[in-house]
Amino acid sequence: MDKIARSVNQLYERYPYPSLPIRNERDLVNKLHANVMSKILATAGLEPGSLSGKEVLDAGCGTGEKSCYFSYYGARVTALDLCNSSLAKGRKLAEKFNLEVEFNQCDIAGFTTEKRFDHIFGIGVLHHTSDPYTRFRVLSDLCKPGGTVTVGLYNRYGRLTHRVRRMWIKLNAGEDIERRISFVERRIYGRKLKNTHEQAYAADKYVNPYESYHSVGEVLDWFNKNNITYIGSHPHTRKGNVQAFYSQLKWLLKRNGFFIMSGRKN
Ligand SMILES: C[S@@+](CC[C@H](N)C(=O)[O-])C[C@H]1O[C@@H](n2cnc3c(N)ncnc32)[C@H](O)[C@@H]1O
Repeated sequence: MDKIARSVNQLYERYPYPSLPIRNERDLVNKLHANVMSKILATAGLEPGSLSGKEVLDAGCGTGEKSCYFSYYGARVTALDLCNSSLAKGRKLAEKFNLEVEFNQCDIAGFTTEKRFDHIFGIGVLHHTSDPYTRFRVLSDLCKPGGTVTVGLYNRYGRLTHRVRRMWIKLNAGEDIERRISFVERRIYGRKLKNTHEQAYAADKYVNPYESYHSVGEVLDWFNKNNITYIGSHPHTRKGNVQAFYSQLKWLLKRNGFFIMSGRKN
C-alpha cells in the first residue's frame, strides 16, 4: 500500500462509507438509493433491468450498497475495495438479501482477474488515490469491447469552495482524524453527528486525508487515450471544450463538487 492509500484506508477503516441505513428491500431499490442509482446508470444509457446477466465490476465499492443493487437486478457482481471494515459490511448486506457478490480486498492498481466486464463503475474512488489515471487504465483494460466504464470524481471547479473549507478544517484541527471530526461537529454541524451514516458522510466529505480534483476535459482525454467513446454525464455536460467550460462554471456557482461520466469501450 502506498502512503496515500494507507492514510485514506485509515479513515475508511474507522468510518466505512457510505454505511447507508438499508433495513429492507425497499431501502435498497426504492427511494433515495434508487434515485442515485438511476442517475448513475443513466450516464451510461443503462437502466436497472438492463443489468441482468451482465458482468459488473464495482471498484472502490465501500460498504457495498451499489454492488448489492447491481446484484439485486441480476448482474454478476465483482466488487473490490482496500478497506476491510467496508468489505465486511458489504458481505453482511449481500448475505442479508441473499445476493451473490464476489468481494475482493485490494488496491485497484493491483487487481487482476481473467474476467472481462460489461459494466465497470469506479464511483468516488479514483480521486482518493496517488495516481487516478493509472487506476483508470486498469479499469478500462478490464472492460469488454462494447462495455461501459463509469467514473465519479470530484470536480476541479465545482469543489473549489469546499477546498477552502477543507483547508480551514485542517488549519484548525490538524491532521488527526478524530480531532477533525470533533471540529466538524462543533463548527459545521453544531451538534454531535447522529449515526453511522452521518459520521461516514462527514468523514468522507470533510476529513478525508487525500483527494484530487478533475475536469470534464481531463476525463474525456482519459477516454480518448483508452479508446472509449463518451456517452453521458451527471450533471449533464456536452463534449465540446466551450460547453464543458460553461457546465463547470455552473457547477462552480452551484457548488456541485462531484460529477459522473460514462463512456463505451470500442
Ligand atoms: C467515497 S468511498 C466510495 C464508495 C462507493 N463507491 C460509493 O459510491 O458509495 C471511496 C472508497 O474507495 C476505497 N478506496 C480508496 N482507495 C482505493 C484504492 N486504491 N483501491 C481500492 N479501493 C480504494 C475506499 O476504501 C472507500 O471505500
